[in-house]
Amino acid sequence: MLHLRLLFPLLFLVLPVQAETLREAAGGKLLIGCAIATRDLDDPELTNLITQQFNCITPEYEMMPEKLVDDHGKFTFDTADRVVGFAEKNKMPVIGHMLVWHFITRKWLFESPDGKPLPREKALENLKTYIDTVVGHYKGRIKAWDVVNEAISDKDGEYLKDTPALRAIGPDYIEKAFQFAQAADPQAALYYNDYNIEQPGKLDRTLKLIHSLREKGVKIDAVGIQGHWLLDWPPAGMIGKGVEALSAAGVKVMITEMDIDPLPRDSSGADMSQSEKGANPYPETLPSEMQEKLAKRYGEIVSELVRHPAVTMIGFWGTHDGRSWLNDYPVKSRTNHPLLFDRKLQPKPALDAVIKALALPKEGRSPNRPSP
Ligand code: XIL
Repeated sequence: MLHLRLLFPLLFLVLPVQAETLREAAGGKLLIGCAIATRDLDDPELTNLITQQFNCITPEYEMMPEKLVDDHGKFTFDTADRVVGFAEKNKMPVIGHMLVWHFITRKWLFESPDGKPLPREKALENLKTYIDTVVGHYKGRIKAWDVVNEAISDKDGEYLKDTPALRAIGPDYIEKAFQFAQAADPQAALYYNDYNIEQPGKLDRTLKLIHSLREKGVKIDAVGIQGHWLLDWPPAGMIGKGVEALSAAGVKVMITEMDIDPLPRDSSGADMSQSEKGANPYPETLPSEMQEKLAKRYGEIVSELVRHPAVTMIGFWGTHDGRSWLNDYPVKSRTNHPLLFDRKLQPKPALDAVIKALALPKEGRSPNRPSP
């Protein structure tokens, strides 16, 4: 009996111990992020979950231009400051989301009140003022900025989306935004962030953008693949190939907004100009066979991602199913179940699958992963 009792602690030394949280499983090698809103900070159970599971924060909505500046150019940082303060208190780096996007913005940045594009010089001045003020406010406190969000066209044969910034400034609004951001906080890493850019077509256009920034000497550190994926699209191998191609262009790759939509829908990606009508098949809970499918899919994708040294961050777009934007996109008012925790903050089988994939045996990981 005595020798068994002596043996027991030794077993922990020889048997691998399964990590219990995402951040433990990532083992300091990867940033594991989540998007949060200020109201999440009022729920102690949720803040506990956030600090136990994740090691990096993205403000989900609080840093969008619509939140930071009003129609008259007055800036307010109160709510965004609360998120940043929470992250700092818990020593979690913050990814600033985002500086330029054609959704959830302020029209005056690039358009006159009658909807016409502003003269280029005026639009550039506005862009610079906005970036100087926001990036300047957080100088030294934000690890990285999504400088430009969703600028690349979804259509083959068209390079950039036709947006107010493009109409007012021209295609170089992207490099200007990166240059203004670099000048405002030279230490912050700078990302280009978009959906479906791991997929053929949009991938080529993204590579074109990276090469053109690089040729002009514009600093770009990483590309953020948003990672709003479906149960059956895109294949994990396609994601891996996309990551390889992006990293071969000389950037790190972040998965910035990961979720997997288990509900039926027509479109893939995250084009917020589109909406759909559709069924709400699981208004209470996700049935166990669907939970298993979701878990398998999460496991396959994360196993693929951790094989690539260029991937230094995986962030989830929300914390639990009740706090996912997919409850309203692309179909309004559904009960969606895309994340790793359910509405009661309980772990789903998908959490276990991701933890196992993150903790893949050493040989599945590259020793050359740069620090995030
Ligand atoms: C969504 C947020 O989750 C919502 O709270 C907000 O109302 C709209 O935007 N791609 C992005 C994110 O880059 O900013 C979007 O987030 C989801 C799609």
